[in-house]
Amino acid sequence: MAKKKAIHDFYKMKKNGEKVTWLTSYDFPTAQFAEAAGLDMILVGDSLGMCVYGYKGTVPVTMEQCIVHCDAVRRGAPNTFVVGDMPFMSYQISDEDAVYNAGEFLKKADMDAIKLEGGTRVASRIKAIVDAGIVVIGHIGLTPQSSGALGGHKAQGRTAEDAAMVVEDALAVQRSGAQMLLVEAVPPEVAQYIAKTLTIPVFSIGAGKECDGQLLIVSDLIGQFQAFTPKFVKKYCDVATIITKAMKDYCEDVRQGRFPEEEHCYHMKEGQKEKFMEQMKK
Ligand code: KIV
Repeated sequence: MAKKKAIHDFYKMKKNGEKVTWLTSYDFPTAQFAEAAGLDMILVGDSLGMCVYGYKGTVPVTMEQCIVHCDAVRRGAPNTFVVGDMPFMSYQISDEDAVYNAGEFLKKADMDAIKLEGGTRVASRIKAIVDAGIVVIGHIGLTPQSSGALGGHKAQGRTAEDAAMVVEDALAVQRSGAQMLLVEAVPPEVAQYIAKTLTIPVFSIGAGKECDGQLLIVSDLIGQFQAFTPKFVKKYCDVATIITKAMKDYCEDVRQGRFPEEEHCYHMKEGQKEKFMEQMKK
């Protein structure tokens, strides 16, 4: 079994030009698969709101839901660097709230780090959490919790002016002490500039390949999430079709009397059937 990676390993990988592999997981079995597949990091994203609970977005997700899923993922992937995602309103109100809630991820679910959305506007939150001794991953570009304010789930930094603002956010995250950064839905040329400029590892989700690693949402990668597929997703399999077919086959077998078969039954022990029938007659 590979040794669990720590923050210094990701810095070493950036220095050596080795790409970090990062995927979301929300439950115990998927976390087991991710660890068996050798993922470097797992994110228990607040995307669980859409991928697990069927909400339209991430805004309704609560701290309690995040902790439950982080706890399950930790049990499934005890030797992987696992990141808890701070849900909407768990860090927006005050630095004190942010530190308290970040701490809950470590105390209740044994997370290795937390992630929160925003650049310049959350600089004091990042500093406060880092000062409490918690590893922080920033998240800039398209930040789904504030997609309303961004005018929808749109790519960010596509004009020179907007790109300069994304870079300003990246610098603010690093200056505040965050140890790593995720850049979402930003042109590759902008993300590459950020990854080259920052000393901390910079990861991409929909921001091209010139970053220090990649993140994808597992439900997109395996073809489980049905509502929509962002342009940056690559589907590696189609579990929706596989699972639906298995369920249809099961229904058909039951209806046609083909399931269960002999091999699926627990028969009575030798001689017990006759005894049982005798008893039933009395
Ligand atoms: O919640 C999540 O999975 C995320 C990704 C969209 C980056 O934050």
